[in-house]
Order: sequence, then structure tokens, then C-alpha cells
Amino acid sequence: MKILAIESSCDETAAAVVEDGRRVLSDVVASQIDEHRLYGGVVPEIASRRHVESISGVVSRALSEAKTDIGGIDAVAVTYAPGLIGALLVGVSYAKGLAMISGKPLIPVHHIAGHIAANYITHPGLGPPFLCLVISGGHSHIVEVSGYTEYKVIGRTRDDAAGECFDKVARVLGYPYPGGKYIDEAAKRGSRTAFKFTHPKLSGNEYDFSFSGLKTAVINLVHNAEQRGEEISCDDVAASFQKTVADILGEKLSAAAEALGYKKIAVAGGVSANSGIRTKMKRVCDSLGAELYLPEPKYCGDNAAMIGAQGYYDFLAGRRADGSLNAVATLSLEDISLGGGPK
Ligand code: KG4
Ligand code: ZN
Repeated sequence: MKILAIESSCDETAAAVVEDGRRVLSDVVASQIDEHRLYGGVVPEIASRRHVESISGVVSRALSEAKTDIGGIDAVAVTYAPGLIGALLVGVSYAKGLAMISGKPLIPVHHIAGHIAANYITHPGLGPPFLCLVISGGHSHIVEVSGYTEYKVIGRTRDDAAGECFDKVARVLGYPYPGGKYIDEAAKRGSRTAFKFTHPKLSGNEYDFSFSGLKTAVINLVHNAEQRGEEISCDDVAASFQKTVADILGEKLSAAAEALGYKKIAVAGGVSANSGIRTKMKRVCDSLGAELYLPEPKYCGDNAAMIGAQGYYDFLAGRRADGSLNAVATLSLEDISLGGGPK
């Protein structure tokens, strides 16, 4: 079954053709990041306008690179939540129009479910149940993936998402937006033990995260050094910060996997491209005797192939949308877990 997938939840206009949820026949991503970088972050109004300009060309390219046309497609999948509402609406409207004129089924896909499904592309043998750490620009979750369309979020960030924290620390160190990958590069040159940052102590759910205290500690460190006129090594700050994030994520994931007995662990989302975090997760899984699944780097960030992968399983579960489908800015994975979400 061939699915044409469309993704426009943030600053990437993307389309892909995916066969049977696992085989990527084409994968086109038009990034707007160079424009948003000028403003130090994504400007929603600009994002929507660029999606409108790009979407036709991106979808046409995805179809032609897959050596097909809309007639050779079995269904259209689209990210409808969560994300920037104006950006989502472009993909949703385009997909609705395409599904309507072609008579193909329309499948509404949750963006975070898509990030998780990126692992199905990279690891053809992976299937639920498994435990997944989702770390993106907007989310940090530990999710029990008990079926292809069944999720239980057992831990979440109480403040900043992991990616948001990387981007804010990167900004104070003078790197362009989004700064996660620059921190990753700098960390390779720096000392992980140059600075010691404490781990947050949280009451309540032991699998929840908090990154705002760490972010503030790093920002204060840099500002205090500046005020005293002292040189501070960005590489050392980046390496020590990244190690702290990796340790916090590793601790929580390890505790959850051990308590719940998972031997299959996946990581997903833009921050899963981070080399320090990938190494840490490998160590965590080795010590648990668990198998680790990581998306290949090109499927860590936003793309439509992951939406096509998840769209296939959503289709098999009977999830469909009609012309009344709307975009939703905020929607928990649990709300679309089998039985919930649009019919
Ligand atoms: O999943 P994603 O592409 O978009 C959202 O759904 O939010 O994640 C984007 C985030 C940004 O915060 C970006 O800085 C971060 O992923 N990121 C990284 C790396 N590559 C991207 N963070 C740390 N290390 C990286 N190598
Ligand atoms: Zn994303």
C-alpha cells in the first residue's frame, strides 16, 4: 500500500511516499530555517506563508521521485496535530483537497506518533510493545508504545522540552537557531567534566523531566563570566551541559524500563540526532540488557516519511478523516490512542 504523506507542523514543508509503512519511495523536505534564523526562532506567520508557497512543488516532487502520480497512491496521510496552527492548516487543507479530488482515503496523523514511527523505517523488525523516549523541540516524553496506535505517556517535561533547552543554551553561547546541532559539535571539542550542573529533584511522578533549572544555571554561568570579564570555553559549557541532559534522560529512561520490564527501547524526535545522547542511550541499554532503536539521522528531525510510516498503521487501525478535519495545536498522544482522536 502506497501512502502520500504531508507534514507542515512547524518550519519544514515535507512530503513523502511510503510503502507499507516501512519502505520510503521518496522523501522531500523544504526547510525554511534560514529565514527563521534571522529572528532567532520560528515566526508562525512566516512559516504559514512559506508552506503555502512550497507545498504544491514539494508534493509534486515527492510523487515524481517515487515514480508515481496521485493515481498510483492508495491514501493521503497528513499531520493534523500538534504544532503551529497556521502551519498545520496548510498541510491539512492541501491534503483534504487532494484526497477529495482523487477519491483517496485521508488519514490524520499525530506528529509525535510520526516521530516514534521514524524507527519503523530504520528498523524493519521493530514493532510494539516498546518504550520510547521522545525528545523534540516541543516535547520530552517517555511513552509506552503498546500497539502501533496505542500509547501511554508515563513521563513528560514539566517546563522546557529537551530541544528547547538545547536551543536556549545555544543562543546564550552565540550559536544560530536552532542551536542543538551546534552544541553537539562544540561538545565534541569540550570537556564534559569542566562544569558540574545539578540534576533537578522533582516530587511526584519520578519519570517526569524538568529542564528549566539546568537552562537557567547555564545562562547564569555564561552571564556571570561575561560580567566578570572572564573567558569561558563554549566547548566546555556545551560538553558539560550536553552530558547533564544525556545523564538526566538516561536516568529516567533506565528507571522506567527497569520498573516496567521493557527490553526494547527506542528514541525519537529531533534531539535523538544528538551524538552524546545516542552514546548515552546505548550505554543505558547495554547495562539493562535491552535492545536500542534509534532513527537514522535524516529521520530524527521533521519529515513526512515518518508520517507515512505511522499513517499506514493508523490506516490499518481504521483511522480516517473526512472534509471536516481540522488542525489542532495541542493534543496529547494519549488522546489519539486507539479509541480516541478523529474517526
Ligand atoms: O523533532 P524536531 O525536528 O521538531 C519538533 O517536532 O520540535 O526537533 C527540533 C529540535 C530543535 O530543538 C533542535 O535544536 C534539536 O531538535 N536538534 C538537536 C540536534 N539536532 C536537532 N538537539 C541536539 N543535538 C542535535 N544534534
Ligand atoms: Zn517534530
